[in-house]
Amino acid sequence: MFDPCTYIIFGATGNLSRLKLMPALYHLEVENRLPDGTMIMAIGRRELDAQGWQDELHDMLVDKARGGLDEDVFRKFSARMKYVKGDLTKESLYEEIQDTVENNNDFSKNCAIYMALQPAQFGIVIDKLATAKLLDETHGWRRIIIEKPFGYDQDSAHMLETRLHRYVREEQIYRIDHYLGKGTVQNILVFRFANVMMEPLWNRNYIDHVQITHSETLGIGGRGDYYDRSGALRDMIQSHLMQLLTLVAMEPPAAMDAESLRDEKVKVLKSIRPIPASAVHAQAFRAQYASGRVAGQAVPGYLEEDKISPQSTTETYAAIKLYIDNWRWRGVPFFLRTGKRMAETKSAICIRFKQPPQHLFSNTPIEKMKPDWVIIGIQPKECLRIEMQVKEPGPAMKTRTVSLDASLRNDDETSYDAYEDLLLDVIKGDQSQFLRFDEVEGAWNVVDPILRVWATERDFIHTYPAGTWGPQETRRLFEREDQFWRHSLEPDGNQ
Ligand code: BG6
Repeated sequence: MFDPCTYIIFGATGNLSRLKLMPALYHLEVENRLPDGTMIMAIGRRELDAQGWQDELHDMLVDKARGGLDEDVFRKFSARMKYVKGDLTKESLYEEIQDTVENNNDFSKNCAIYMALQPAQFGIVIDKLATAKLLDETHGWRRIIIEKPFGYDQDSAHMLETRLHRYVREEQIYRIDHYLGKGTVQNILVFRFANVMMEPLWNRNYIDHVQITHSETLGIGGRGDYYDRSGALRDMIQSHLMQLLTLVAMEPPAAMDAESLRDEKVKVLKSIRPIPASAVHAQAFRAQYASGRVAGQAVPGYLEEDKISPQSTTETYAAIKLYIDNWRWRGVPFFLRTGKRMAETKSAICIRFKQPPQHLFSNTPIEKMKPDWVIIGIQPKECLRIEMQVKEPGPAMKTRTVSLDASLRNDDETSYDAYEDLLLDVIKGDQSQFLRFDEVEGAWNVVDPILRVWATERDFIHTYPAGTWGPQETRRLFEREDQFWRHSLEPDGNQ
């Protein structure tokens, strides 16, 4: 077990805390993985007494607890909690936190400080934490967890980085991208580097293109404030999808330690061909959801959502095409797409292989060979499949696609949420699944030119009905007629 710690969560009543952090901490409690003496200080804007916070917490967990909320575990878990109401801009909040950590022996002086806040608030909170000496490591370690997006663009990311380093060392900074904690994402490296079968094929000679998709049926919920300033490109592509791209594309690292892995990921980011303003329309596409139906229910369009201006042209769907100019990947397009209020909730990487060099079956009923694919399903279904062509039984020379399934999880094995491991990694002081600044910088480098062009084009955006796969026009990113978005992960439902 590790040292006890005080988890200080800024934004404890917000969306991230509700959906991910509190459930993850509760599940760590269920599994007895929280070090003894761990306490949680929940900082929020709402006026809540201890009972009020406990009710709120119960509410957050009741639908999220795996296998139902265990009231005994909940009592133990809520006994670790202290709710602090405060205004982020006022010194008094930080003085109260400091006083608790310094003088209340129930609270460890090792503090993990989680910024579940809007990016614009990070800077001010860091300054105030420093003034209150909460970043000072004289009596215990102090670690800061910064949620994505780290900055708003390249320049603001640099400003935030400089501000952080005024007060803390790199070892104290945990730039989180929760996709790195997902089981299947970690499996990409195992699939590639613990097997010899794939690696010889994993290059421009055999791969036609790569698709990385994250789609959600949910809309923006109560996050209008944040989302309207962010949009899909910043919210998902700059962070999560770019990380997935680096894992698919990187060279084998010298070792599996954090620095060797990060070095290889950064090399990929540096090799991505910059997108000049003149190529933004050819390589990037954006759209916004209009009203529609999701799971049989009518849902409003983005412009009708709470806190969204009726003139907003913020994208809720973004798709981009990238090229990695190195020996392995030159000429292979990587398509990344994400959207809210889409037809299904799904994250997957689909890798399409080229056709065999010679079409030996052209005089048979096999008129057109279907391509082979490698499918890596991240969620909700975790899977790893290789699709190949086989001959159908019977006299005719016809093929069918079969799928070799190397799926990762047996039915009796629980699927953990990425935040569980990551929150624990911070207590352990393990940074290997967190980002180094040059990764963040590399990803901003790629998306910044697109953001700049989109920022000047504020009078029109394509729309798509909620509950669909996005506008048809997104096809313009493809290079050939026979390329298409792979929506289904099943062998016969190709599109
Ligand atoms: C977050 C984004 O980082 O990731 C959200 O801000 C998105 O908009 C979420 O919904 C998706 O995470 P997951 O783990 O549900 O795929």
